[in-house]
Amino acid sequence: MTDDASVPTVTEDIKPDTGKLFVDDKKSRSDIECFVHAKYFIPKTEEHLIRPPVAPEEKTTDQKKEGKKKRPIVKIDIRDKLCNSLIDVRPGAEAPVCHYNGCKMQHDIKTWLKTKPPDAGPECYIFTNQGYCPRGVTCRFASSHLDEDGKNICNTDSIKPTKIYVLDKNDQVNLRKKQYDFKFSDEVCQKCWDLINSAAEANNPKKDKCEDEENVEPPEKKHKPLGPVSEEDLVKLRRGEKKKLDWEGKTYLAPLTTVGNLPFRRVCKGLGVDITCGEMALGLNLLQGQGSEWALTKRHESEDFFGVQVCGASPPQMARVAQLLEDKVDCDFVDINMGCPIDLIFQKGMGSGLMPRKRPLENIVRSMSTILTKPLTIKMRNGIYSDKRIAHDTFPLVERWGVSAITLHGRSKEQRYTKLADWEYIGHCQKTVNVPVFGNGDVMNYEDYNAGMEKGGVSGIMLARGALIKPWVFTEIKEQRHWDISGQERLDIVRDFCNYGLEHWGSDDKGVENTRKFLLEWLSFTHRYVPHGILMYPPQRINQRVPIYRGRTELEILLSSPRSEDWIKISEMFLGKVRDDFNFIPKHKANSY
Ligand SMILES: Cc1cc2nc3c(=O)[nH]c(=O)nc-3n(C[C@H](O)[C@H](O)[C@H](O)COP(=O)(O)O)c2cc1C
Ligand SMILES: [Zn+2]
Ligand SMILES: [Zn+2]
Repeated sequence: MTDDASVPTVTEDIKPDTGKLFVDDKKSRSDIECFVHAKYFIPKTEEHLIRPPVAPEEKTTDQKKEGKKKRPIVKIDIRDKLCNSLIDVRPGAEAPVCHYNGCKMQHDIKTWLKTKPPDAGPECYIFTNQGYCPRGVTCRFASSHLDEDGKNICNTDSIKPTKIYVLDKNDQVNLRKKQYDFKFSDEVCQKCWDLINSAAEANNPKKDKCEDEENVEPPEKKHKPLGPVSEEDLVKLRRGEKKKLDWEGKTYLAPLTTVGNLPFRRVCKGLGVDITCGEMALGLNLLQGQGSEWALTKRHESEDFFGVQVCGASPPQMARVAQLLEDKVDCDFVDINMGCPIDLIFQKGMGSGLMPRKRPLENIVRSMSTILTKPLTIKMRNGIYSDKRIAHDTFPLVERWGVSAITLHGRSKEQRYTKLADWEYIGHCQKTVNVPVFGNGDVMNYEDYNAGMEKGGVSGIMLARGALIKPWVFTEIKEQRHWDISGQERLDIVRDFCNYGLEHWGSDDKGVENTRKFLLEWLSFTHRYVPHGILMYPPQRINQRVPIYRGRTELEILLSSPRSEDWIKISEMFLGKVRDDFNFIPKHKANSY
């Protein structure tokens, strides 16, 4: 396909120039706005000045309700669904007799095929690559692997077993019935309290523990000591040697809720990232055996340095989470989220809300690090408030309590994404510990990366938005160059994501729509990339406002569109048409990051 063939045209939002615009002190403005060469520049109209062209506005609650009311309820008749027993029947084989009691689903493949919507594409990626597509006749790309009777062709003797569930059914039932054996983690957590309490008493014999200003604990934490406990005693409890990892000089793709899904991480692995991490999982949900939360702990085989991030407030709970992750999850390290700024999380003392809660934090880190033989790491911010940074105090403490590496996002919780990350402060904190430190904040090209490595003196750098906007940033860092990537190359990356999505979520109707949903979430970031070759003052920086410009090709124009209608058009190139009433509102408002 050439760059512009079969590229849907962009939805026009560009009005004629009204000629009202600034540009006297261009150079200093280039700090806040990203300038493109004159021939690509589209002057802003009055409309743009009032309403900058960003991702569509979040709807108000009323509008959302309205939207919900209006959407027609699509009733699916069970008789229109194909019985599961017929999804994967081999050519020549007799259709099996359905064993489901009173099954009302369709049992004639050919009849069902007549009602199936047209395929979403001509070729099934899964069949092409593995010689077999488990979604069989329900695959939305099935024509490439069905015979004339609708039987599912299989061209391989070695079908890769797909491990759908991360957690096995038995464990899930035990967790739900609260019958999982947590004796070990409960004992470790108790011993940690004994250690913490005896140390506090030794330091402060007269003072009542409850008066200990900031560190007042809820009563449940004041257990009776079992006897004196030392740090060595804790180490002895560990069930095996602590594993070591080499963190030096590695690039790290940040944990990213929703958008840091397995297919996206696989895309980044292909583009050169070293370390990947799952989306933040809530400890409580893991303990309740919730399948959707456990899905966040799944790793792709290409992820050869993979962590799982968890978030929680209570030591006994996090100790149990550690036991589960140690016993049941295939990952190389476990990361504690101590940076999440979302109010709901913060107010419960999780995420950035854990930062000032020194005693529970001590127990969480000590317990988890004792229980896990995999390294325990922690990701934090400068502090809660912009004028009261605390990370430099927290660093040596968490090192002493047992973390193997620390990531610092150089902003406070209060700051969210305003102002640049403070790399000097990252450098200052790094000097307070001997464990590897990863710096995080605003890196989007190899120059930013080099500057961060130098200023922060860190072992490596974590990237979040830069990787979402341009996942090839990892290649740029490896090769120490700016890549003026073409529209077609960018589209190829989008195609990879779609294929990986179909493989991960499935290539049937549900899988296709899931893949589309996550693709659209990602595309709500990618349009912010401004092609390197058209920049007046390259490279692009993360804090710069994106100008309104015309890309060099139709494809570049399409890929730069901030309109969700255009993202949907891009999705249709690989995932087939959407229904007429399809609508998309991104979960993360792109301009708030
Ligand atoms: C969409 C989105 C989702 C995020 N989800 C998480 C998360 O699950 N866990 C976490 O520790 N940080 C999360 N973060 C924060 C990033 O990991 C990172 O610390 C922050 O974006 C700063 O890095 P950057 O300047 O490279 O974007 C998220 C950020 C974004 C933009
Ligand atoms: Zn049936
Ligand atoms: Zn298929």
